[in-house]
Amino acid sequence: MAKLLIKTFGCQMNEYDSSKMADVLKASHGYELTDDAEAADLVLLNTCSVREKASEKVFSELGRLKEWKDAKPGRVVGVGGCVASQEGEVIARRAPAVDLVFGPQTLHRLPELLEQTRRTHKPAIDIRFPEIEKFDHLPEPRVEGPTAFVSIMEGCSKYCTFCIVPYTRGEEVSRPLDDVLAEVDALVRQGVREITLLGQNVNAYQGSMADGGSCDLALLIHILARFETLGRIRFTTSHPAHFSDALIDAYASEPKLANVLHLPVQSGSDRILAMMKRGYTRAQFLEKIARLRSLRPDIGLSSDFIVGFPSETEEDFEQTMALIEAARFDFAYSFVYSPRPGTPAANLRDGVPMAVKQARLERLQARIRDLGIAFTERLVGTAQTVLVEKVSRRGNGQLAGKTHCNRWLNFDGPESLIGHFAEVRITESLTNSLRGELIGITAGEALTETNIETRGA
Ligand code: SAM
Ligand code: F3S
Repeated sequence: MAKLLIKTFGCQMNEYDSSKMADVLKASHGYELTDDAEAADLVLLNTCSVREKASEKVFSELGRLKEWKDAKPGRVVGVGGCVASQEGEVIARRAPAVDLVFGPQTLHRLPELLEQTRRTHKPAIDIRFPEIEKFDHLPEPRVEGPTAFVSIMEGCSKYCTFCIVPYTRGEEVSRPLDDVLAEVDALVRQGVREITLLGQNVNAYQGSMADGGSCDLALLIHILARFETLGRIRFTTSHPAHFSDALIDAYASEPKLANVLHLPVQSGSDRILAMMKRGYTRAQFLEKIARLRSLRPDIGLSSDFIVGFPSETEEDFEQTMALIEAARFDFAYSFVYSPRPGTPAANLRDGVPMAVKQARLERLQARIRDLGIAFTERLVGTAQTVLVEKVSRRGNGQLAGKTHCNRWLNFDGPESLIGHFAEVRITESLTNSLRGELIGITAGEALTETNIETRGA
């Protein structure tokens, strides 16, 4: 059996793409995934160029892979993802070990590219953006466990001045509604109870409908909620400018919509937001949050921040800190600004010393950490609905599942609860997880003999 190793860098989108690469190559050539490079016949690097000197990292990895490849005839090396789409043929020229170069939108062509390189003994390269063709060529999704990701749109057309994504993943393209529904249907039939709708800018979704109309994210959520056994719907990543009233209203009318929102704000300073071309002000952002909180007072709210954007002053940064207080985020991804070649912001003069940026980042992260701890401590004593995913890795026989607000929760219960929603009272808040006790099975869950007994207990 041929073996495939995929090294994934970057975001959830890349994780999703990697799982699709594995599906495609299993269907075409029977490749099985492995973590062991020695056992592998094909190594794929799924790269990211959103931050850091990611391409340099890729080239040093490729240097190591040359030895790996030379050690056994027939071994193949491929580079996919955003670095591939940015560097294209340069990769194959600079790193002779590389046989395959493919972009985020051409991963479905891996089987053909593999055949091509075997035939020609030359690198096979395809980094086009052939619209949404990719999704028509992916095998039916296969799942393990009760949660799954569904990509509903690709690319991004916002062109924030700091961001490489529109150049590496192309402009926004939404999947037609019927395609999304067919995929969700296949997943639900395999026992999936929670889906996360994925896209770089997922709330810009506009899926074409059979009647010629267009479906936005709010409508999609309402339609998906009709799948009876689908219990929870999440989405990521959304953009504040597209966070529409209809979507906010969905939080009031659709209980299956998870009680959590990731809404990247990047900065609290209007001056910096304008330089970033984000398309909203801090007041507009806070107003949307206030509306949302009036409908879901206990919602979990997370965000992304860029610290040290060119010319960011102490005053700009203080406004970011003040925004964090006002919005009460309980989690965030935060980064020091990293100039991306080819983006408009990369040409801006940047006089802020790195030590200052780093100190600001640390201050921001410490505050978010404290707010996160306070958030989870407030959960102690409350009853939370949890989707039970597995037996806890701690080896104490406990079950592990996730709350609405995306926190791992461990508790005692029968394994028959895996794949079901349960009600759990939170007893303790730890650094990275919660502990609780089972108080019941969520209404509407299929009851087996074992979990009925637990319910009565
Ligand atoms: N679609 C999302 C949004 O609405 O902002 C962002 C997707 S982006 C790939 C993920 C995160 O990476 C951004 O939210 C931003 O915080 C960070 N990021 C992107 N470009 C960056 C850069 N040049 N330097 C530092 N962080 C960056
Ligand atoms: Fe990047 Fe802005 Fe799109 S951060 S992914 S260009 S919304």
